[in-house]
Amino acid sequence: MKTATQTLGFPEMDELYSANHIASVVDRLAQEISLDLSNANPILVGVLNGSVPFLADLMRKLQFPLEIAYLAISSYHGNKSTGQVTMLRDLESTVSDRHVVLVEDIVDTGTTATYLVDHLSKQNPASLKFCSLISKQRQRKTEVHLDYVGFELLEGYVVGYGLDFQHQYRNMPSISVLKDGGI
Ligand code: IMP
Repeated sequence: MKTATQTLGFPEMDELYSANHIASVVDRLAQEISLDLSNANPILVGVLNGSVPFLADLMRKLQFPLEIAYLAISSYHGNKSTGQVTMLRDLESTVSDRHVVLVEDIVDTGTTATYLVDHLSKQNPASLKFCSLISKQRQRKTEVHLDYVGFELLEGYVVGYGLDFQHQYRNMPSISVLKDGGI
């Protein structure tokens, strides 16, 4: 019998969070953000490429005026963090005096998150909040404050719903654990 990922043409993987489970968690995060920012006309800043499905779902659950923007950074090679963060593409305009929500797919060592918070803080936003679909708290090398967290992941490298291994699997609707370090 084929697993769900095999049926979709992906290799066999253990599904960790189903598409329905992710949707319910995105609902919960949207409620939390709405409580804080529904009158603030915030900018949601998505971190390319991993946050794309998450941000697309999240913003449609937020029933108030907002803007979106994207930036792109790189800190991973394969499934190992390099510890070096490179800005591949910055925001097109400043977030000075704006309420900002950084939207990430996953926070692992915290290196990327710390870099992003430092980078945007320099522009003096009115407020800066951090929303991550997944947090790997046990892997932290740098302490970072996350305001909104979808899932706490204890171990493993996960793919799907925006998360990749060597640029693959981002289009899987659910999130699975990558076996044997990937294909
Ligand atoms: P950090 O700087 O170590 O916190 O790494 C953050 C970035 O690493 C994320 O934005 C992802 O691109 C990538 N990453 C970390 N863990 C995973 C994972 O389990 N699956 C896919 N990407 C990951």
